[in-house]
Amino acid sequence: MASKSLAALTILFGLTGLIAGPSIDEIMVKAHKARTGLRDQIKNAAAMPNPDWAEIQKKTKEFVELAKELVKNDPPMGSKESWEKHCAEYVEIIKVLDEAAAKKDAKAIAEVNKKLGASCKGCHDAHQP
Ligand code: HEC
Repeated sequence: MASKSLAALTILFGLTGLIAGPSIDEIMVKAHKARTGLRDQIKNAAAMPNPDWAEIQKKTKEFVELAKELVKNDPPMGSKESWEKHCAEYVEIIKVLDEAAAKKDAKAIAEVNKKLGASCKGCHDAHQP
């Protein structure tokens, strides 16, 4: 009996996790971790002599979906208004990245990546404790 209710609880929390979506930390790691994060994967794949555009496009699409999840979290610090603004700007940058991938434009991808790299600090200063 005890193990059954434990299983039910596990399922319940699992579902809550699904509905709540990824946490800020989960998104940050999945998106920005060196080498294995989407950002570096896309950057490095696009810098190849013969980029696998289908694969890159799949990743930039995934990145857009992930970026959209960010605003669903409450910021650990700073106002909701500022958070929504920073999150919207973040999604816009990732969308430009996705457009560059759709055009198979490696140069544009490199440029957007610079912009993305410059965007971390503003949001962290305002919202990372
Ligand atoms: C729109 C806001 C926003 C942007 C843009 C942003 N971050 Fe973050 N990031 C956060 C917040 C908020 C936290 C703190 C989360 C917490 O402590 O709960 C964080 C935390 C992190 C962490 C720590 C994760 C952990 O497991 O503790 C890393 C690493 C990180 N960000 C990397 C980056 C990099 C690299 C960029 C730019 C390419 C970036 N972030 C852009 C909001 C942002």
